[in-house]
Amino acid sequence: MKVLLATEKPFAAAAVEGISAILREAGHEVVKLEKYSDKAELLAAVKDAEAMIIRSDKVTAEVIAAAPRLKIVVRAGAGYDNVDLEASKAAGVVVMNTPGQNSNAVAELAIGLMIYMARTEFTPATGSEIQGKRLGVQAYGNVGRLVGGKAKALGMSVCALDPFLTDEQIIAGGADPVHSVEDLYAASDYLSIHIPALPSTIKSIGYDLITRMPKGATLVNTARKEVIDEDGLLKALEERQDLKYAADVMPDNYALLKEKFGNRVFATPKKMGAQTSEANVNAGLAAARQIVDYFATGNTRFQVNK
Ligand code: 3PG
Repeated sequence: MKVLLATEKPFAAAAVEGISAILREAGHEVVKLEKYSDKAELLAAVKDAEAMIIRSDKVTAEVIAAAPRLKIVVRAGAGYDNVDLEASKAAGVVVMNTPGQNSNAVAELAIGLMIYMARTEFTPATGSEIQGKRLGVQAYGNVGRLVGGKAKALGMSVCALDPFLTDEQIIAGGADPVHSVEDLYAASDYLSIHIPALPSTIKSIGYDLITRMPKGATLVNTARKEVIDEDGLLKALEERQDLKYAADVMPDNYALLKEKFGNRVFATPKKMGAQTSEANVNAGLAAARQIVDYFATGNTRFQVNK
């Protein structure tokens, strides 16, 4: 089968080598489209692809329509909001993700952002310490749990909200359960967001929630920029001069936020939470194995568009 590795943000070389080796050993052909800048390049590349490995690359209905031989898309990573699940399902294309494979990298970045903000972007200004502070984790899944564990090791207390987990499961994961999003924000000196971008979560974090945070609090978003109501964030930061915002997902109004609030806001220029060699290898090789397995045995364990 012809497998297209389409990564606008390329994987580390070790991951690309590993992916290619796994696929070739199983008799598949590997075609690479890395660092492309134009959708037209992707549309042309998918023409004869039977499988695809992607990252945050957008697999829209147009891409699906341009790929008549496509049978499977594996998003090497967790979030699959970049794939049109309806269009792929209608075309009989299986979509999978590789949950957990890049979680540690994202969790380390979330902790790094907390320290970076606590130390005022590593300027000589007097900073603060995260030890002894309260961390709230919004969604205690693969990434959230890792953030919680690392935060505890650094001397923070941790509380978490997750509607899909019981109190016992949250406690077993080392956090105090919180039962409403309002209470979570009100309790958190640091709040780490780990919810997916869904119709129900898009723009769900805005002025009302952010201004519930305690004095001097920091909101850290390594999830998706879409979950933030950016007008609400701007208003909250304007009104509450003590609050800070750090994101791995540059807000659309970042230039304005930076101009107005200086080192109270920070965003990475490109999403890079999962951009470690380890995460690339874990997620990339898992994706390659899932494709090999799917063609060999029909295994759809990680399918997300059933
Ligand atoms: C994910 O959903 O797995 C992360 O956001 C990583 O995305 P990336 O592969 O585009 O870095």
